[in-house]
Amino acid sequence: MNIYFAPMEGITGRVYRRVHHRFFPGIDKYYTPFISLTGNLKLKARDRKELEPAENPEISLVPQFLGNDPEAFRKGIRYAGELGYSECNINLGCPSKTVTTKKKGSGLLDEPELLKKLLDGVFEEPEQIFDGELQSTIGKMDISVKTRLGGSDPEEIFSLLDLFNRYPISELTIHPRVRDEGYRGRVHLDYFEECLRRSENPVCYNGDIRTVHDFSLIAEKYPNLRAVMIGRGLVGNPALVREIRGGAPLTAEELKAFHDSLLESYMEAFQGDEYVSIRHMLELWPFMKENFSDSDRLIHKIFKTKRLSDYRTAVDKLFEDRR
Ligand SMILES: Cc1cc2nc3c(=O)[nH]c(=O)nc-3n(C[C@H](O)[C@H](O)[C@H](O)COP(=O)(O)O)c2cc1C
Repeated sequence: MNIYFAPMEGITGRVYRRVHHRFFPGIDKYYTPFISLTGNLKLKARDRKELEPAENPEISLVPQFLGNDPEAFRKGIRYAGELGYSECNINLGCPSKTVTTKKKGSGLLDEPELLKKLLDGVFEEPEQIFDGELQSTIGKMDISVKTRLGGSDPEEIFSLLDLFNRYPISELTIHPRVRDEGYRGRVHLDYFEECLRRSENPVCYNGDIRTVHDFSLIAEKYPNLRAVMIGRGLVGNPALVREIRGGAPLTAEELKAFHDSLLESYMEAFQGDEYVSIRHMLELWPFMKENFSDSDRLIHKIFKTKRLSDYRTAVDKLFEDRR
């Protein structure tokens, strides 16, 4: 089964992906955190850097786009094709209010007309995306979709599937929660199961896989599933995919070496800006702290640090206490 690293804004950017791939190779695909596409398609310099092939060496990467403007999507997909990407992903899952109030991400799930217009624009006129020459250079561009079950009611997924089934979506990743649930509560596996039956496009499962056991439950329950996507579980245990594939469990030494290398890479990427580098590292700790039981006080200390030397001291102490 294919296993993908889920896109996570603020975490799985180019720096993280590079270091993760170096320490824990074996992820079938990484997805970029969402890149916002607006009418004028002025991609931010930061987003262009995120997509630069040189920034993602040897990594199988899928650009993920967020927005609701078909023209902007066509341009974004074209840009990705020019860079050599062979798949782009449409974000229909983001539950953040700042995104959904603009009818983007999961804000599109209860806007059927807008959603249809976007999908029509992306799928129906490929010649508007690629001219003949480019088309022959890159071959076919796969378009995948990452979705939730709906806005407020999981029953919404059935009319959404009727719509999705009209397009050749290369892979439909389903996070079986609705927008209003955020990441709370249990995933609706009963609905996911029905999606597997009804989707005419290949389906990928995403949600709450944190351990090898969680993965095995899903793999056994759905033996024909071709892919799963893992987010928080992989940030918490960056060796999770190796473990799922029968490899050695993560050691504290390995996690520390990965952590230190990532910190060093952020410092380099942000030209020695301690504050920004620490902010990036702190995004990981809500998930990495799962590796440390009875360490609330030390973890709390890590979150309070503002200077690099204090941060390093607090992290070293946490790892020493674990020994
Ligand atoms: C901090 C954070 C950032 C996220 N950023 C994105 C994003 O940029 N694009 C996206 O499609 N999903 C994003 N997600 C959702 C994840 O990709 C994934 O669907 C979600 O975490 C559920 O999977 P998991 O239980 O394996 O973590 C984000 C989730 C979190 C917690």
